[in-house]
Amino acid sequence: MRSVPRHLVSIADLDATEIVRILDHGDRYWALGHEPIKKLTSLRGRTVINLFFENSTRTRTSFELAAKRLSAEAINISSSGASISKGETLLDTADNLEAMAPDVIVVRHSFGGAAAMLAGHVSCAVINAGDGQHEHPTQALLDAATIRRMKGKPAAGGGSPSLEGLEVAIVGDIAHSRVARSNILCLAKLGVQIRLVAPLTLIPRGIELIGGEVTRERVRVVNRLEDGLEGVDVVMMLRIQHERFEGEAPRFPNTRELSRTFGLSERTLGFAKPDAIVMHPGPINRGVELAPSVADGPRAVILQQVSWGVAIRMAVLERAVIGFDGADKAVAA
Ligand code: CP
Repeated sequence: MRSVPRHLVSIADLDATEIVRILDHGDRYWALGHEPIKKLTSLRGRTVINLFFENSTRTRTSFELAAKRLSAEAINISSSGASISKGETLLDTADNLEAMAPDVIVVRHSFGGAAAMLAGHVSCAVINAGDGQHEHPTQALLDAATIRRMKGKPAAGGGSPSLEGLEVAIVGDIAHSRVARSNILCLAKLGVQIRLVAPLTLIPRGIELIGGEVTRERVRVVNRLEDGLEGVDVVMMLRIQHERFEGEAPRFPNTRELSRTFGLSERTLGFAKPDAIVMHPGPINRGVELAPSVADGPRAVILQQVSWGVAIRMAVLERAVIGFDGADKAVAA
């Protein structure tokens, strides 16, 4: 009998213990990324289908690399080359893919809810690679891994490093950002204090409550950049998601004005702690949300985030297919 698939649709489905377990397994694969031979065999003979209905550079490539580094077969499908462009529904597409017996479908779609819809329909594991404005859980996990590496406090007795008490500012287009939603849920569960920094029009009303009590206690909305950055350990910048504004009334007068008031420059970074790190999920719009000198400066860890993406997605794929106990056995063998 097939075991219950370990979907990853939302950070809301993970508790802090499971998040830490994924990060700990990601640590193992981070080290592998620095070895000359980057191949393990734990998913040999398994099949991962990357089903991407929206553009992607980082997420799709890193899922493909992660699958290949675990010796799984990885197949990429994008909407432009798929029969969805001929009118096939998402569920019909899923049925047809499932008939080829994959172990995992990784899905990105503009519909917030697409990953949950597939997870309720197919019998293989489904991993959400970004669904509309809803969530991007593996991005939040790789962001947490990056923060833990750069800012984590060593645990007494040699346990997993802790993020408890760190201050993180998430700045920019919170309203349209699945990255922000997943990060709010993930970081709050790990004990981080979160400031959401944007004009009121780019912050959904009630966002502090998306994770219930845990986010109510840890999330604060700030509408002035300098106040939002004051004394933080981490600045996470977000792109304006112009592609999700269609049909909406303008939320700010123009991009230049938003950039001037909420863009991160060397001057405004000065409000954060002197050793604060700068993060961005990518793609960056240079000179809009982030000055090039900051994006390329010594405090930016944006490319480390990308490297962590492979390591964390290896951990997530293993969890989905063989579980962490299976992964531990594979390492021991
Ligand atoms: N961060 C992120 O999701 O990037 P891509 O859109 O390139 O996958």
